Amino acid sequence: MSAGFIAVAGASGALGKLIVQALLSRSVAVKALVRPNTDPSRTEGLAKAGATIKPVDMSNVDALTHELQGATCVISSLLGLRDAMIDAQGRLLDAAVAAQVPRFIPSDFSLDFTKTEPGSNRNLDLHREFHAKLEASGIAWTSILNGCFMEVLVGDSPMVNHETRKVTYVGQPTQALDFTPMVDVAAYTAAVATDPSPTPRCLRIASAVVSVQDIVDTETRVTGQTYAAKWMGTVGTTKLLIKAMRAFGSEDEVFPSWQGMQYMENMMSGAGKLDLLDNDRYPGLKWTRLEDFLREHSPQAEKIVSPYKIDGQDVQVITQGDFDSDAVTFAIHSSPLETRELARTSPLKGSSPIAYWRCGLNTAIQWKETLGREIPGDWTTVAEKLAPPPQVDDLYAVYLGDNATWWDDPKLNGDPRSLLMRTGFIPDTVAMEFATAVQTAGKVAGVWTEDKIRGWARPILAINSAKVGDPDSAIYHFDSLRLLDV
Ligand SMILES: NC(=O)c1ccc[n+]([C@@H]2O[C@H](COP(=O)([O-])OP(=O)(O)OC[C@H]3O[C@@H](n4cnc5c(N)ncnc54)[C@H](OP(=O)(O)O)[C@@H]3O)[C@@H](O)[C@H]2O)c1
Repeated sequence: MSAGFIAVAGASGALGKLIVQALLSRSVAVKALVRPNTDPSRTEGLAKAGATIKPVDMSNVDALTHELQGATCVISSLLGLRDAMIDAQGRLLDAAVAAQVPRFIPSDFSLDFTKTEPGSNRNLDLHREFHAKLEASGIAWTSILNGCFMEVLVGDSPMVNHETRKVTYVGQPTQALDFTPMVDVAAYTAAVATDPSPTPRCLRIASAVVSVQDIVDTETRVTGQTYAAKWMGTVGTTKLLIKAMRAFGSEDEVFPSWQGMQYMENMMSGAGKLDLLDNDRYPGLKWTRLEDFLREHSPQAEKIVSPYKIDGQDVQVITQGDFDSDAVTFAIHSSPLETRELARTSPLKGSSPIAYWRCGLNTAIQWKETLGREIPGDWTTVAEKLAPPPQVDDLYAVYLGDNATWWDDPKLNGDPRSLLMRTGFIPDTVAMEFATAVQTAGKVAGVWTEDKIRGWARPILAINSAKVGDPDSAIYHFDSLRLLDV
């Protein structure tokens, strides 16, 4: 790989993968360092996305130095105990220094352990110890501190029990806590890694700063079930409990239960609170609100996101769960990534409603940006996650499902303009695939014969032809407008 790439160690891990993706989305060349025995299937997606996957012996400084020649930054997202955080990461640091890499981002991504009491958190003591190594190395380094990953609140969580609907805390329920989802952490890390200016020793970020009571209220709103806070004791008694639990061992595990309680104590005592945030350092990054995150990721989230009205009809945007096909709903069925039902159930049936939604939301978002106003989280979530318009056999289809291809049916071939609307009427959005639009235009030309073309189909055909690169047909249809009796 030529000069000017960023190396990511721990690229097979949860955060590492997201960091690689965030770098690639900035068009940065990425070398993903993985252990020699890492199954290639684990990094196949990254390779397909354009990263160079490099298995390397993390115990061999020379091999690492060779791989880092020409790197502009090394990012570590290793996770483990001493062997990973001090030994392997230490050799990575030695290699970065030897290869004269200008910047190193250590695998911290945690609450603010620069403020917590040494000895109060076994894992974070390793991070602290590594900072001393960084300091001594002479390399320019930047640690990113992001509080707790927001993912901790979803699924099997030590903090939230979704069966009993209790949010566990120690100390005070009003203590402010920092949460950031991994995807926001990765985007920020990529921004730091590509920053042309020097970056400070520590950058602190949080997508949401909330109290236990805020979490209770948000869970209640999102799930429609009543959640409550559950007090586990004072900070002092928690420390005693941790000591007692630790006496039973599990020192060889990365996250034994007492370790989880050490994180809880550090957060809920306020000791590890991030004080001044550096969220605004890189304009353009998005910060996920807790409510939006839970709505999207929590299996317990209620399916209805928000009510809207279209043409006076009550309309519900559904992002999870089944929808009732008899109800008058504008359904974004199941995951927003599978919104194909929208085409079938929409009042705008057959007229590329997904593309309309995408276009409408994009326009609304641009307006908000132009006015310098906050963009509602729902808008961006829905816009970004709308599925592409349905396709069957590389042609646009009106919907997916039974009888999705009905090109021989006079109901469709008598007026298939709905299949051209996304190109022939609305502005281009990412919802439009050029090759499919060209093929669909060709198919439509074969079935929509002169005797069937009526009224404003002509301008649609003219605009569509122009946009798919068929000027002769565009002029023909445009010229035929003369024949309209208007
Ligand atoms: N703030 C929070 O709430 C929070 C929560 C979790 C993690 N974190 C932080 O996020 C960072 C990454 O965590 P993650 O969840 O992405 O971890 P992860 O999914 O477990 O990935 C860890 C990575 O480190 C590699 N690794 C582990 N031990 C190694 C060793 N001895 N030598 C070389 N590579 C080794 C793993 O390689 P293999 O795939 O080959 O095993 C994997 O690529 C860490 O800094 C962690 O402290 C923060």
